Amino acid sequence: MDCVKLVLIFMLYPFLCQPAFSSSLPHLCPKDQAFALLQFKHMFTYNPNASDYCYNPTTHSWNKTTDCCSWNGVYCDEVMGQVIVLDLSCCGLQGKFHTNSSLFQLSSLKRLDLSYNDFSGSLISPKFSELSSLMHLDLSRSSFTGIIPAEISHLSKLQVLRIWTVDLYRLRLGPYNFELLLKNLTQLRYLELDSVNISSTIPLNFSSYLTTLLLPATQLHGVLPKRVFHLSNLEDLTLSSNSITGPIPSNVSGLQNLKLLALSSNYLNGTIPSWIFSLPSLSTLDLSNNSFSGKIQEFKYKTLEFVSVKQNQLQGPIPKSLLNQQELQILILSQNNFSGQIGSTVCNLKTLELLDFGSNHLNGAIPQCLGEMSRLIVLGLKNNSLSGTINTTFNTENQLRIINLYGNKLKGKVPPSLINCRYLEFLDLGNNELNDTFPSWLGGLPHLTILSLRSNKLHGPISDSRTHNLFAKIRVIDLSSNGFSGNLPVSFFENFQAMKINGENRGTQEYVADPYSGNYANTLIVTTKGLDLELPRVLTTYMIIDLSRNRFEGYLPSIIGDLVGLRALNLSHNGLEGVIPASLQHLSVLESLDLSSNKIGGEIPQQLASLTFLAVLNLSHNHLLGCIPKGKQFDTFDNSSYQGNDGLRGLPLSKDCGGDDGVPQATTPVELDDEEAEEGDLISWQAVLMGFGCGLVIGLSIIYIMLSTHYSIWVSRMVVKFEHIIITRMKRY
Ligand SMILES: *[C@@H]1O[C@H](CO)[C@@H](O)[C@H](O)[C@H]1NC(C)=O
Ligand SMILES: *[C@@H]1O[C@H](CO)[C@@H](O)[C@H](O)[C@H]1NC(C)=O
Ligand SMILES: *[C@@H]1O[C@H](CO)[C@@H](O)[C@H](O)[C@H]1NC(C)=O
Ligand SMILES: *[C@@H]1O[C@H](CO)[C@@H](O)[C@H](O)[C@H]1NC(C)=O
Ligand SMILES: *[C@@H]1O[C@H](CO)[C@@H](O)[C@H](O)[C@H]1NC(C)=O
Ligand SMILES: *[C@@H]1O[C@H](CO)[C@@H](O)[C@H](O)[C@H]1NC(C)=O
Ligand SMILES: *[C@@H]1O[C@H](CO)[C@@H](O)[C@H](O)[C@H]1NC(C)=O
Ligand SMILES: *[C@@H]1O[C@H](CO)[C@@H](O)[C@H](O)[C@H]1NC(C)=O
Ligand SMILES: *[C@@H]1O[C@H](CO)[C@@H](O)[C@H](O)[C@H]1NC(C)=O
Ligand SMILES: *[C@@H]1O[C@H](CO)[C@@H](O)[C@H](O)[C@H]1NC(C)=O
Ligand SMILES: *[C@@H]1O[C@H](CO)[C@@H](O)[C@H](O)[C@H]1NC(C)=O
Ligand SMILES: *[C@@H]1O[C@H](CO)[C@@H](O)[C@H](O)[C@H]1NC(C)=O
Repeated sequence: MDCVKLVLIFMLYPFLCQPAFSSSLPHLCPKDQAFALLQFKHMFTYNPNASDYCYNPTTHSWNKTTDCCSWNGVYCDEVMGQVIVLDLSCCGLQGKFHTNSSLFQLSSLKRLDLSYNDFSGSLISPKFSELSSLMHLDLSRSSFTGIIPAEISHLSKLQVLRIWTVDLYRLRLGPYNFELLLKNLTQLRYLELDSVNISSTIPLNFSSYLTTLLLPATQLHGVLPKRVFHLSNLEDLTLSSNSITGPIPSNVSGLQNLKLLALSSNYLNGTIPSWIFSLPSLSTLDLSNNSFSGKIQEFKYKTLEFVSVKQNQLQGPIPKSLLNQQELQILILSQNNFSGQIGSTVCNLKTLELLDFGSNHLNGAIPQCLGEMSRLIVLGLKNNSLSGTINTTFNTENQLRIINLYGNKLKGKVPPSLINCRYLEFLDLGNNELNDTFPSWLGGLPHLTILSLRSNKLHGPISDSRTHNLFAKIRVIDLSSNGFSGNLPVSFFENFQAMKINGENRGTQEYVADPYSGNYANTLIVTTKGLDLELPRVLTTYMIIDLSRNRFEGYLPSIIGDLVGLRALNLSHNGLEGVIPASLQHLSVLESLDLSSNKIGGEIPQQLASLTFLAVLNLSHNHLLGCIPKGKQFDTFDNSSYQGNDGLRGLPLSKDCGGDDGVPQATTPVELDDEEAEEGDLISWQAVLMGFGCGLVIGLSIIYIMLSTHYSIWVSRMVVKFEHIIITRMKRY
């Protein structure tokens, strides 16, 4: 079988809904049917944007002068001339679908596809049940809402029923209707009700012909009945993102054709039963986000293409047979208790594009050969106990875009061969024991967007003799908690071209790297005000410089004011001197500024009062003097922002600024002790988290978290589409 890139899904998505029949027949169309069709056509307006994905102006060819059997999307019975197929998928139809629609006069219809249109929240009419010859009904993604009428279960000839939606739970199918549907539709082969609120236990009565059962995000609950696995024709089973509990039944046999098994994001527990490891056709296995425990057994066959068991409590070594799958493209074992070493056999996975072993208990060295896996795009090994030097040699053929080795015990130098990763966008080597000078040569990677080297033993100056085109695309750079020293070179900041653009003005917020890899490995830990925050995904507008907790000295270069896209600037806990450059007033989207614990003197520039997005300010423990600016955001900061600067006066400090004379008043400084300060910080940060204040980075990150809860559904749909493409290809040979 061909190797299929998951990326293809995104490219193919628009075309998944093309008409399936290609020839029309010369028979004369009955007048009443032609009339009904035209009437139907005129019920709607046409909006090429009705579906975000596709548009085929099928109905444009419909007119009175031609035989309706020759119209696009219309197919007639060869003998009787009746319209038997109507394929209006992706037609751009927009408007209400009324129950008096002339469509219901086409009583001979066997196949009706209305997917990917915009019926603007119409209810699904019970009159669909009058189309009693229907074998295939597709009402997916067409903005229908409300309850799916019980009458649908009268369509006893149905073989294919697809009513999936993207508007989570805006369609409902009561538990009773669901049971009826399954009981009466004895011919059903394909059932897809993705994101419909069914809110039922899993019924026991299914058509024995079922090959495809796609019920992700349907509010199913209760245990997984063994009977589901008695459907011997089953090829695709998706019950992801529900509330199914208990174990997967054991002692199941006869699922010779099962290709896709997706049970992710449920409350399943117990061990993964052995029959799953002996399925002869299994290509996609997604058991992520459950409570499975125990070991993964050896797989008997080599048919796997996609495996995710992320977020369970699985333990033991990574099974050898898993690393011997010749067509595996995606392997996600993260957030489990897997232990042992990553053998170099992993490099046998020649087709692997995404490897995520993050957050396990893996130890030993990183295999040297990993850098030679020519298809690999994502390498995620964060939060393990990997040790030794990173002597992986990344060769020039590699396609890596994301490398995450955060939180291990890696020693030695930043591997020089990383310079061969010319597609690299995301590199996180944070929280290791790397001992090296600043790898400024990484700045030569043309796509590098996010770089974290935080919490290592890196040292020396960050200046470089090469001054041009370094880090031109960088949007997040975190060098905090190392031993870097020397001045903050002007040329360093001068090069950050991407940060000189205010992301706000760019309209849509794209994701760094591909959305499909987005949530796997490129989460990023950022620290602000002592709180480590994991960002599930990093938006392109998210621009951060964190050079805190090093030994930098000298002045704050005023060129930082050119980096107008900056959201957070942290230079705290260094030995910086001089004054706060007034140029910082140009950082109009800055949300967090931390210059605390340095030796910065002078006054706080009044111009900073114009930073209306500033939600977090920490200037404490410096040598600042004069009056605290008044107005706008500055009225929202409390003492903790300024403490430890004996020369500062004005609100909120109790030292009165008393007009413009600039003479310090003789008042006792009020200092919070450190503990109080921490608490103050935490509270203000929590306020930020809750989305108070102006449009915040962290406010945004909450939105990402919200987005990522819908993500599992999205992924399960992607998994399904992925599988469809594979199947379609197989059928086509
Ligand atoms: C469709 O979308 C395009 C681009 O977003 C826009 O220019 C156009 O006006 C839209 N058309 C309709 C009918 O909404
Ligand atoms: C009807 O369709 C035919 C073929 O598509 C076209 O040649 C003809 O001009 C159309 N007539 C009208 C009135 O639109
Ligand atoms: C169908 O019903 C809608 C609203 O109930 C009405 O506006 C429309 O005129 C009716 N159409 C026909 C063809 O009767
Ligand atoms: C099952 O379908 C038949 C028509 O084929 C219908 O008469 C009957 O009411 C349906 N039963 C249920 C329970 O929906
Ligand atoms: C789903 O439907 C049930 C009733 O069938 C209702 O109680 C529940 O609130 C709905 N859930 C959601 C998330 O809409
Ligand atoms: C399934 O439905 C059929 C027909 O309604 C019935 O005879 C049978 O007992 C049902 N099976 C189960 C397990 O409910
Ligand atoms: C599974 O089958 C084995 C033997 O075939 C039997 O000993 C065991 O009790 C069965 N387990 C379940 C849960 O039915
Ligand atoms: C894990 O599954 C539960 C239950 O379906 C769901 O509520 C939760 O959002 C899922 N978490 C993730 C990270 O997908
Ligand atoms: C599985 O979860 C159920 C509760 O949902 C619990 O009663 C049972 O003991 C769990 N089984 C295992 C093996 O953890
Ligand atoms: C998995 O590891 C965590 C932390 O190391 C530990 O607390 C937990 O008990 C382990 N779970 C199992 C099932 O071994
Ligand atoms: C690579 O590193 C490992 C562990 O640090 C070490 O055992 C091995 O000898 C190194 N290989 C080379 C070629 O340096
Ligand atoms: C870094 O390595 C050098 C030798 O290469 C050693 O002298 C130094 O102590 C190490 N630094 C740290 C912080 O471990």
